Amino acid sequence: MSSKADTRIETMRAPYVVVDDFLPLDAAEAMRLDIDTHFGNYGSHRPETHQVWNYWFVPGLYAYLRTTPEKLIRPDRVESFMQVLRRWSAAALGLQEVTWPYLSLYVSGCRQNLHNDSANGRFAFVYSLTRDRRMTSGGETLVLNEGDLFRNNVATAQNAAGFYTSIEPRFNRLVVFDDRMPHGVERVDGSMNPVEGRFVMHGHIRDRGAIVSGALTEQQVGAVVMEALIDFSAGALSRIRLYHGPVVFRLFIGANGVVKSCAVLLDRVTATDANDTGWPKMLSNLIAKFTALKFPEGSGETTVTQPVLMGTSLFRPDH
Ligand SMILES: [Fe+2]
Repeated sequence: MSSKADTRIETMRAPYVVVDDFLPLDAAEAMRLDIDTHFGNYGSHRPETHQVWNYWFVPGLYAYLRTTPEKLIRPDRVESFMQVLRRWSAAALGLQEVTWPYLSLYVSGCRQNLHNDSANGRFAFVYSLTRDRRMTSGGETLVLNEGDLFRNNVATAQNAAGFYTSIEPRFNRLVVFDDRMPHGVERVDGSMNPVEGRFVMHGHIRDRGAIVSGALTEQQVGAVVMEALIDFSAGALSRIRLYHGPVVFRLFIGANGVVKSCAVLLDRVTATDANDTGWPKMLSNLIAKFTALKFPEGSGETTVTQPVLMGTSLFRPDH
């Protein structure tokens, strides 16, 4: 391949992504059956098996029930879900750290008011085990639109759909969104029966260094990538702090150590000043620096997925 700008990979720039039918249906249904079994057979409820819910109540903000999923769902099923999610996250986002989830239950009256999780991770994930046919309404994940909700609408009558996206908690649906986006959960109303409520497993996705596969080792790759990052930050020191968020590169390296192509897998870098237009140029500069790197020769090709975090330390080699 002669071209170094790899256009085969589409860059993810959206603030959220919805993946329906995330798990094989039988895996999702087995987890749901564990939940239904937990709530059934009332006579067999015991303190050690059923006093497991934390009523997570923060005045004006949160009201729902949460627990660790293995208390209801067979642990190997939760682990299988996590493996699929880790693989998906590494492939789609280039981020490989996924926190162990909570299992949350929203019955009538439960909700989350608007907040962000800017300090908790790079992305949030919400995987739904809510029944598609249920005796409740609400429970949608709400993600506010990007941009200035006031200025972008001063001359246009606007309502809910114009200000935020409302994502139904469909069974076996994964929702992943930028943790910095203001978000919440629509209040659930209707039946008090827990099996009719909103069940989700949720947590956060973070960067944890480069993902390296192929001939070269992480150490061999890390030392060379660091050169590009040091060089880049030395040349753009005063401007780096104008930006915030993750950008992830995918490098294809030939056996001779030459970079064959550099794709941008994810770009969620945001200028803190809405009028700033300098990021595309900085991004090109970073791509040029990665493309010019010379890695050690190896016994074959190597693929490197490298997250870079703007607005925090660029140098997080092992975290
Ligand atoms: Fe949140």
